[in-house]
Amino acid sequence: MRRLLIAGNWKMNKTVPEAIELVRGLKERLKCVEDRDVLICPPFTALYPVSKELEGSQILLGGQNMFYEEKGAFTGEISPLMLKDVGCSFVILGHSERRHIFGEDDKLINKKVISAVKHGLIPILCVGERIEEREEGRTEEVIEKQVREGLKGLSSKDEFVIAYEPVWAIGTGKTATPEMAQEVHSFIREILKELFGEEKAGRVRVLYGGSVKPENAKGLLEMPDIDGALVGGASLKAESFSAIVQFD
Ligand code: G3P
Repeated sequence: MRRLLIAGNWKMNKTVPEAIELVRGLKERLKCVEDRDVLICPPFTALYPVSKELEGSQILLGGQNMFYEEKGAFTGEISPLMLKDVGCSFVILGHSERRHIFGEDDKLINKKVISAVKHGLIPILCVGERIEEREEGRTEEVIEKQVREGLKGLSSKDEFVIAYEPVWAIGTGKTATPEMAQEVHSFIREILKELFGEEKAGRVRVLYGGSVKPENAKGLLEMPDIDGALVGGASLKAESFSAIVQFD
């Protein structure tokens, strides 16, 4: 059975004082949670102060993106070494905003995934179709390409997470139904079986993201191939994010 992972993607939100306030609220509400992993992904500027605030807490820390080189002339970028340095164990890669606002393609995302694994970070590879792709019946084609190309070069020994985030559900309040999400998650697991074998595919956690809220979390997280959530807006308040974490 896969251990649940509930992750909060704060995106470009929270100054350092605001981040510390949120973390203190989460620590208070989640101190008895031991049967699932809780991960928060603050903006880069807050990572170090938050890592100090998390000392002694079970809450895990992750980055929202990274470049694949260790160091060098890459203005504005963050390296895997820097994420490790401030206590990150996970990193979100290929988020739909990186793809559709900042133009990242599967090739670049794959380089980042390989670099994350090489440096001991667990990549959360985000995949998801746009509404026009779903309406044209191309969901599986899009997801298969993103999964296969994003994971190219990895082996069954490497640890990674997949997050299915239908683009049309992100920030819109239009959550996929549990059945719709389960259908895609099951399809993703079939691809993972082809790539890495049944045993590994059974161990990879596949998260759902896209307007997850306290009121819809239980229906989604009870589905057999949904192993957690990648939460955006609802992760910015201690009350709503901790309600999602403790959905059951
Ligand atoms: O990475 C998670 C995010 O894209 C989902 O955002 O606000 O729809 O929960 P939101």
